[in-house]
Amino acid sequence: MNDFNFYSPTEFVFGRGREKECGAYVKKYGGTRVLLHYGGSSAARSGLLGRVKASLDTCGVAYCELGGVQPNPHDSLVYKGIELARKEKVDFILAVGGGSVIDSAKAIAMGVPYEGDFWDFYSGKQPEKALPVATVLTIAAAGSEGSGDSVITKEDGMLKRGAGSDLIRPRFSVMNPELTQTLPAYQTACGATDIMAHVFERYFTNTKEVEITDRLCEAVLLTMIKETPRVIADPDNYEARANIMWAGTVAHTNIVGVGREQDWNSHGIEHELSALYDCAHGAGLAVIMPAWMEYVYKHNVRRFCQMATRVFGQQMDYEKPEETALKGITAFRYFLRSIGMPINFAELGAKEKDIPLLVEKFGLGDGRTGGFVHLSSEDIAAIYKIAAHADL
Ligand code: NZQ
Ligand code: ZN
Repeated sequence: MNDFNFYSPTEFVFGRGREKECGAYVKKYGGTRVLLHYGGSSAARSGLLGRVKASLDTCGVAYCELGGVQPNPHDSLVYKGIELARKEKVDFILAVGGGSVIDSAKAIAMGVPYEGDFWDFYSGKQPEKALPVATVLTIAAAGSEGSGDSVITKEDGMLKRGAGSDLIRPRFSVMNPELTQTLPAYQTACGATDIMAHVFERYFTNTKEVEITDRLCEAVLLTMIKETPRVIADPDNYEARANIMWAGTVAHTNIVGVGREQDWNSHGIEHELSALYDCAHGAGLAVIMPAWMEYVYKHNVRRFCQMATRVFGQQMDYEKPEETALKGITAFRYFLRSIGMPINFAELGAKEKDIPLLVEKFGLGDGRTGGFVHLSSEDIAAIYKIAAHADL
């Protein structure tokens, strides 16, 4: 195991009706003038926004509002948010929504105290200050409620890029599984796929002797395999929703990934798809992640056999370990299809002829990237090609 620091300062406020407490938690963390940030219409429609505002009012916390965050959030709304927050002298940002809203809130939080362009933080610069951010989560997926990451798309060139800093880890995150019961099945499945991908990015490692994090990863994956079909069949199943919601946070605070090298190529390769086609991030991962697995499994057949046997219940064939590894990847694809995810370009709405453009936008040039297998631009093109033609 490698040396590590694990820093996860977020207070998770989990359970039924807990959004009614958000005013008190804003006060606890020093907020007096809040920017309430949210997405399209789901939070207003469900009455959640009203309950959050009532809670702020009850606690005497002033607020202004900025809605309209779209999935795969854009920089233009971030600029608007920065301007509004400065004008209203906001000292706290409360995101009510999913990963897109939370990431947009994090971008605003870094941008407000910064004199330059907030995009600098999405081009490698580290922020020195940020306003405090907190969340009321409405979809189990990105894990942004516990992460120090934010992903924004720059409209000029449709560049989707990430920023990372402990300063944007939420002060608190309200997690009421009931709030996810209004999700369409497709969004639930996209979220489940993203959660599994966050684990796989960490599971495939070259670091030796990582039994504890291997087993934690497998626990999250097995939970998702059991609970996702349950919520798709019965969207109001609170217990299954609760298990998935906590799995999404555990998958991405990095508690399952500490002390080990991680890969993250599938995410980078996917981000070009959601930037170009505006598809859901989880749906893009359903197409990319198994294709990446097929391309790299020979790098460590034993590890892929471990996934096949421990996670997907395949029988180990000691004479033909490569076949066992491939059976695990196929089982993953079957699972994805069973929950309604696309598994190839056509089902996602992507086009094979765009592969050169996707590779160019990935921007690797002659370099290499990835913690498990170092991929070149040619490798990435080959993975897109497998993804284009994948089938069962
Ligand atoms: O805008 P509204 O009307 O709220 O609709 C949203 C949106 O259309 C809807 N939704 C959310 N909660 C709902 C609901 N509909 C009904 N009932 C509810 N309770 O769901 C749609 C998707 O929402 P979004 O926030 O985009 O989903 P998600 O949480 O999957 O976030 C995706 C974004 O997060 C980034 C992705 O790249 C993508 O941009 N990621 C962020 C990460 C991070 N910050 O740590 C890590 C991830 O790997 C990921 O890259
Ligand atoms: Zn993700």
